[in-house]
Amino acid sequence: MEDVELVEFEYDRDMDDILRVWTETGWFDGEDRPERFIKQFFEANDGRSVVARLNGHTESVVHRSLGSMHYDDTQVSLGGVTAVTTSRIARRLRMASRLTARTVAHLGDEGVAVAALGMFEQGFYDRVGFAAGSYENRVQVYPGDLDIPVPYRTPERLDLDDDLEEIHAAIVDRMPWHGGIAVGGERLSQAGAQIDDQPTLFGYRTDGTLSHFLMLEMKGENGPDRVLGMAYQTKYQCLELLRLIQEWGDQVDSIRFVEPVWLKAQEFMRQPGREYRRTKGTAHEMHIDADAWWQARIVDLDACVRAMRPAGREFSIAVEVDDPIQDHLVDSGYAGSWQPLSGLWRLTFGPNAGAERLAPDTANDTPADLVTTVNALTQWWLGVTSADTLAVVGAFEAKPDVIDQLDDLTAHLPTPQLGWDI
Ligand SMILES: CC(C)(COP(=O)(O)OP(=O)(O)OC[C@H]1O[C@@H](n2cnc3c(N)ncnc32)[C@H](O)[C@@H]1OP(=O)(O)O)[C@@H](O)C(=O)NCCC(=O)NCCS
Repeated sequence: MEDVELVEFEYDRDMDDILRVWTETGWFDGEDRPERFIKQFFEANDGRSVVARLNGHTESVVHRSLGSMHYDDTQVSLGGVTAVTTSRIARRLRMASRLTARTVAHLGDEGVAVAALGMFEQGFYDRVGFAAGSYENRVQVYPGDLDIPVPYRTPERLDLDDDLEEIHAAIVDRMPWHGGIAVGGERLSQAGAQIDDQPTLFGYRTDGTLSHFLMLEMKGENGPDRVLGMAYQTKYQCLELLRLIQEWGDQVDSIRFVEPVWLKAQEFMRQPGREYRRTKGTAHEMHIDADAWWQARIVDLDACVRAMRPAGREFSIAVEVDDPIQDHLVDSGYAGSWQPLSGLWRLTFGPNAGAERLAPDTANDTPADLVTTVNALTQWWLGVTSADTLAVVGAFEAKPDVIDQLDDLTAHLPTPQLGWDI
């Protein structure tokens, strides 16, 4: 194996190499404007990144950020694995795998309950315990076909420099929704929004305070335009943003947005069938498609179980967990105290909910009620996949009464939606 060194990020030593890595992954085209925001992206997370070095140069980097996730009706601490890249000369040296595993471990030391990331492909991050999130609908529609049942109001223009604090506050104060995340501080929001795009922001105030806005990438005169993000505190405010989009039908031929998981955009279209036939095969084709683009994994099992709504009656189960991160933490340079979740746990649900790792001597005498992986456990905990379905596909091994009990605990959860890019 090549002589690779995995160490903490140092801005002065690593930043120029990272720009080269990002160039080779196609994330940076050498222009001054994105360079400013990439540098800010790495400065803004207080150095929370790890790098792999080969022959005196940084060839791989993983960036992480802290934040929170709305889980059911409470908040849990969230860690974002916010950029994973390896240069073209350093592929297949396990750099990204080891740095990602180490990042999860650092997030564990930093008090994170659950980690999340946007995936480039299915499978890669499964190897360190992540599992796919829920489907999300993306809508492309002619704005003039929308029929949003709230009155139009003139918005105001917002500026990512001048109005940054208010914009970030509006992102953090978004309508609570199961799975909704906020990551990083103002400078990370500012940088993250502008590395890839040159967004335009329009929004509204409520009692003088910025309450809802949308961030938009406009393409030429007629689109397709793309909504990069929407922040709102109430469902009505979301409709007001969609009503604003509707008003652009005199100019824009199509606009794309992610459907808020609590509404069906098609119900707010006048003639979706005719629009589909009219635009079929064009760049402005009316359509709604879906995919699962994000993944998550439990980092602190006790914190995640404690966040669950109390069960009707208290009960415990013994759970044998396999955590595949273990193999990738080897030779990662990680020297902290976080432990992979592999092993036997007692999970208690109810007023005294929590997860306790069983010591090896106890574990030897305790039969497991559930045998699973951290990946599958995360999907169940988030309400992405039911215990029953996980059992059918072999990801949960347990007796039917245990599966029923587990499903009773999560059946009420709405479909999770991060609601912001990560
Ligand atoms: C993705 C990327 C970071 C991987 O970097 P890398 O340092 O070469 O990755 P590693 O060497 O740690 O891992 C390679 C392993 O992952 C496996 N792998 C790759 N894609 C996989 C997938 N979709 N499913 C399962 N395994 C996968 C490979 O088979 C290889 O396994 P092996 O070690 O058993 O041979 C790199 O290709 C890259 O920078 N791509 C462009 C930017 C990008 O998409 N980043 C991810 C953003 S979410």
